[in-house]
Amino acid sequence: MVLRGNGFILRDWKKGDEISLQRNADNVRIFNCLTDKFPSPYTMDFAEAWVNMHSDQDPMLIFALDIGGEIAGAVGIELKEDVYRKTGVIGYWLAEQFWGRGIMPEAVKLVTAYAFERLGLIRMQAGIFSKNPRSMRVLEKAGYQKEAILRNSVVKNGEVLDEHIYAVLKQAFIAPPLNQISG
Ligand SMILES: CC(C)(COP(=O)(O)OP(=O)(O)OC[C@H]1O[C@@H](n2cnc3c(N)ncnc32)[C@H](O)[C@@H]1OP(=O)(O)O)[C@@H](O)C(=O)NCCC(=O)NCCS
Repeated sequence: MVLRGNGFILRDWKKGDEISLQRNADNVRIFNCLTDKFPSPYTMDFAEAWVNMHSDQDPMLIFALDIGGEIAGAVGIELKEDVYRKTGVIGYWLAEQFWGRGIMPEAVKLVTAYAFERLGLIRMQAGIFSKNPRSMRVLEKAGYQKEAILRNSVVKNGEVLDEHIYAVLKQAFIAPPLNQISG
């Protein structure tokens, strides 16, 4: 399964990815925006374990964002369960040297289309820390809308933050052209 964007692809992980993954993910500005499951420092041991654990996914849930053969980021879907099973939670990060080029809004759109068309989900959502307006803008550009603010729900780096919940529904989503999705 490969999702094709403008100047990048979203694909499965493979051995060798750990080198560029470690180099690009080891960035405290990325860590500051994510849950503490994303480590800092981002070690080579962690990168190797990550690649091993996420190769040959079925179904694909966590895409490697590949620019010119290098891991420049990731976009993942967490499937909710039980009565929430038709909802997916999207998360992402991009190597800092590629920020500001519109890459992530396009990647989020592609993965959202994949989630609706291939995974049978009807709602996609994301939770953004209050100090991350850049990521809120990504979601707005990808067609998501702000639904709620969960006050004081996050503790990151010892600081209490609000979390902004964004979502898009399948019936309201304007999908990118289908020929961008293959596999
Ligand atoms: C968030 C992230 C994925 C953005 O990806 P990107 O491909 O650079 O996104 P864009 O190119 O659309 O640029 C971000 C947008 O935010 C805007 N922006 C940047 N700084 C901003 C700020 N301080 N306040 C408001 N908007 C801001 C930019 O102007 C741009 O919007 P525009 O095109 O309307 O001008 C990337 O910065 C990243 O990986 N950050 C760290 C990890 C992270 O935040 N992950 C998401 C966790 S929910």
